[in-house]
Order: sequence, then structure tokens, then C-alpha cells
Amino acid sequence: MAIRIAIILVFISVFLMQEILAQNSFDKYYDPLWGLNHITVDPQGTEVQLLMDQSSGAGFRSKLEYGSGLFHIRMKIPEKRTGGIVTTFYLTSAPDNQPPNNHFEIDYEFIGTNGTVQTNVYNNDEGHREQSFNLWFNPSQDFHTYEILWNSRQIVFLVDSIPIRVFKNNTAQGIDYPWKPMHIEASIWNANWAGDVDWTQAPFVAHFEDFGFKACEANAGDCSRDSYWEFDDEQKRKMQQFRRSSMTYDYCSQPSTSKPECAFNI
Ligand SMILES: *[C@@H]1O[C@H](CO)[C@@H](O)[C@H](O)[C@H]1NC(C)=O
Ligand SMILES: *[C@@H]1O[C@H](CO)[C@@H](O)[C@H](O)[C@H]1NC(C)=O
Repeated sequence: MAIRIAIILVFISVFLMQEILAQNSFDKYYDPLWGLNHITVDPQGTEVQLLMDQSSGAGFRSKLEYGSGLFHIRMKIPEKRTGGIVTTFYLTSAPDNQPPNNHFEIDYEFIGTNGTVQTNVYNNDEGHREQSFNLWFNPSQDFHTYEILWNSRQIVFLVDSIPIRVFKNNTAQGIDYPWKPMHIEASIWNANWAGDVDWTQAPFVAHFEDFGFKACEANAGDCSRDSYWEFDDEQKRKMQQFRRSSMTYDYCSQPSTSKPECAFNI
């Protein structure tokens, strides 16, 4: 009897495990987008590798576009030390080539592989809202969780559940705020502005896992109202502490790069 129960329990847990994996599987949420021969998806869809060499990088994109949500991925950037390689996880309004005043992005971009991560918000075609950070861990050593919350109230960047940046909806003060449907994308590529690539270290491989997230399709209401609508004191304290100790660039800190929202975001 005990053995029979044990066997049944094993079956149930294997089944539940498969369900959980399937819920978070790459194929459920994403399709490869470019550099198709530089993308490896493991058979269960639980881990994806994007490879960058001198011939190409690679990227993937969500099947759907969304109007709000708490977007989530676990990521490990390339181990090999170099500048010039940019590893990204971001929201982008689609299609890419659109009429003026219509492009929005909410970005995580690892600049090279030394651990500096840049965040940015593109509003109506206009970026230059960079805030960069040195993380409290080595992002090429282990997987860590990177999230973007986007709802009608605010955008929040979170690393391992710690809010590191907030961009509020200050439409009422005449400040633009992303409103177009967005895809979520991840990629590895090389950019001149990110420094020189040491190709002797190539190939560079970025790893992604845990693909599930909670988001609403465009025009389907604001489904992420329950997450981080209001920070508690502990979250506020952690964010302020991290920004004080680890922000290495802030467009709001210089009059020449500052923008109107800088007066409202904190
Ligand atoms: C990492 O590289 C970037 C781009 O070259 C540079 O701006 C940044 O200061 C470097 N960070 C560290 C911690 O060395
Ligand atoms: C931003 O807030 C305004 C209210 O101030 C609201 O009407 C608008 O829908 C919000 N924008 C988005 C994209 O949710």
C-alpha cells in the first residue's frame, strides 16, 4: 500500500514538474527573431543560449505584444571579459520602423561583460534617459532575475526583486509615457558605443531561463495593478540605498542631460 502511494506521489510530482516547466517554457512565450543559427533552445524549452561571434549575434521576441505587465526573465551574461558586446532584455513598441513620434522602449542593456548595466526609457523616439549601475553580484557568474513592471502608474526596473529605478506616469504634468503596445525582446549584439570587442575571447554566450511572465495584451486593461503599485518602506529603503551606492551614471544629475521628468520621478 505504502509503495503504491509512493509510486502515485512520484507520478504526480513528475507531472506537476512538467506542468511548471511547460508554463515557463520558451516556446510558449517567445520565438527566435534573428541570428537563428546562433540561438540554442534546449529540448524542454527551459534554457536558451544566444551566441555572439564575428559573423552574428542573435535575438528572440515575444509572440504577442502587450499593454502592461510584470515582465520577467532570468539571465546570465557572457563570462568572457570584453567591451563592445551588449546583452539586452527590453520592451519595444512594434514594428521597429514606424512613423516619427511613435517609438518606445524600456531597456536593460549590459554594456560589455564587466557587470555594468544600463537602463533606458525611450519616449516618442527620444532616448537619452540612461541610468547605469554596478550590480552587487557578478551577472556573468549566475542567473539573476531581471524584471520590468509597466502599468498605468509607473515603470519599475527590478533586479532580484529589488527596485532599482522608477519612471512614473506623469502625463498629467505634460511628460510623455510609453503607451503603445510592446513586444518583449532579448538579444546579444555588438555596438561601437559600448567599447571595443576583444574577439580573441569569442564566442560570447548569454544564457536565459524562466520565460514565463504576467502581462496583459494591449487594450486588455491594466493587469499588473497589484504588483508594486505602492512601494513599502523596505522597498523604498533598498532602492535608495542601492542607487546611492551603485548608480554610476544618471542623466538627471547634469543640467545638460536632464529632462523634465527628473523633477518628478523620485
Ligand atoms: C565597464 O565598462 C563600461 C563600458 O566600457 C564602463 O563605462 C564602466 O565604467 C566599466 N565598469 C567597471 C566596473 O569597470
Ligand atoms: C497615464 O496616466 C494617465 C492619467 O494621468 C492615464 O490617463 C493614462 O492612460 C496613463 N497612461 C498609460 C500608458 O497607462
